[in-house]
Amino acid sequence: MEFSIKSGKSEKQRNDCVIVGVYESGKLSHSAKSIDDAAEGFLAKVLKRGDMDGKLASTLLLQTVAGTHAERVLLVGLGKQGELNEKGYRKAVIASVNALAKTGANDVASFLAEVDVFNADNKKQDAAWKIAQMVEAVNDALYRFDVMKGKKEKTNKDATKGITKLEIHVAEQDENQAAKVALKQGLALSAGVSFAKDLGNLPPNVCTPTYLAEQALAMVKTHGLTVQVLEREEMKKLGMGSFLGVAQGSAQPPKLIVLQHLQGKKDQKPVVLVGKGITFDTGGISLKPGAEMDEMKYDMCGAASVLGTFKAIAEMDLPLNVVGVIPACENMPDADAIRPGDVLTSMSGQTIEVLNTDAEGRLILCDALTYAEKFEPSAVIDIATLTGACVIALGHHASGLFSNQDRLAKELLAAGEDALDRAWHMPLWEEYQPQLDSNFADIANIGGRAGGSITAACFLSRFTKKYHWAHLDIAGTAWKSGKEKGSTGRPVPLLTQFLKHRAAKA
Ligand code: BES
Ligand code: MN
Ligand code: ZN
Repeated sequence: MEFSIKSGKSEKQRNDCVIVGVYESGKLSHSAKSIDDAAEGFLAKVLKRGDMDGKLASTLLLQTVAGTHAERVLLVGLGKQGELNEKGYRKAVIASVNALAKTGANDVASFLAEVDVFNADNKKQDAAWKIAQMVEAVNDALYRFDVMKGKKEKTNKDATKGITKLEIHVAEQDENQAAKVALKQGLALSAGVSFAKDLGNLPPNVCTPTYLAEQALAMVKTHGLTVQVLEREEMKKLGMGSFLGVAQGSAQPPKLIVLQHLQGKKDQKPVVLVGKGITFDTGGISLKPGAEMDEMKYDMCGAASVLGTFKAIAEMDLPLNVVGVIPACENMPDADAIRPGDVLTSMSGQTIEVLNTDAEGRLILCDALTYAEKFEPSAVIDIATLTGACVIALGHHASGLFSNQDRLAKELLAAGEDALDRAWHMPLWEEYQPQLDSNFADIANIGGRAGGSITAACFLSRFTKKYHWAHLDIAGTAWKSGKEKGSTGRPVPLLTQFLKHRAAKA
């Protein structure tokens, strides 16, 4: 898919298709009006006939409209004029791509970025946001994962259908450096999201801890990062007894992957991203039930979001210091696996009674969070498919956000709003902490059914006292189940937006 920024009159474009917006009750967007004038009122006439009502994301494809130069004109509904919000804009963009998917229109010009889009504060979004969002939405809609399909199915796809070239039209005064930067940033974010999706969707026999480490190392050459991979022996020396406890039941060697993107000022303290990288979670000896267990290949989506975010910020050349720490291993039942009742000693020195081997995410994260101290971070954010309880609390629309600093929480919430990748602030109150009391160690690894996502965050909070920290529970947002099963790439947009904001402030 090729994107470019253009400006010009809609009726003058010589593309396979020109995409313009129309509102409810027959109101035309600026570029639709321009075509309507050239076509002597043809669009108005078509709308009056009632074939298209302008409802959000409805579409109507017109062939060879008189007075225009393009082969086709696609009308896209934008809902009521003056009421198009951010989500609606995204929906309209995706509808325009889907409407052309089975047509011969490859080279298209979209005028949807010219329309007014209102954010939650009822402020108009700028051209840069609309451009970047369009690129991301289009790539999101066109994403396919077919690397594991047989050769036949891959080659059978009809490559001559659907959009391959998209010109994003903006008003002439907007066709400037800022628009080009927005395009570059949209492309960078898409690349990061798509990378995270691929890693999530890969089967667990391919996407092992070793594979994740190789992917990180491959980014050194292409993206100018530094990457270090710590092996079991080195982790033993560091005293990561909790992480290694989880890893000991697996034939796959664990990896601690450390990435550094140091493009900020030398003395600038880094943001550290920590991603849960369980490449398959069987539950261990506390074995999970069989139904949908395949989805536990997605238990490394926290790790994937860190790698995806690094790809995005590297491609943006973001001037900021960012460190990534990924503990990666499998959680398997085995003769060597940890048992319920085992006590592990974490890198922090705190001992942990393992009451359920299926609460393994916190066991690998706690050592990674202690390791993060050495970077003297300005903030640490961990991202994890941590609890089924978070899915019960928030469903599949918001990630759960927990933090020991309100300002950091607000920053992340705002980034999620702006990137259309939202999180919801959950409590991390002292009152929940006693649920983790253990008779035999400093802390238990589970806190009972009540407030399961909160007590999981409480567990992590015992290891993050030395810095500002936030935890994103992405159990409900990282992938979709059912017919549309697949990774979403979330929360790469939220994290990237957060880091962009930090870079702008620095
Ligand atoms: N990876 C799971 C969490 C999960 C489960 C995410 C289902 C998405 C869908 C995690 O390791 C886990 O098993 N958590 C347990 C914790 C419990 C034993 C306290 C859970 O949520 O059931
Ligand atoms: Mn588990
Ligand atoms: Zn897990």
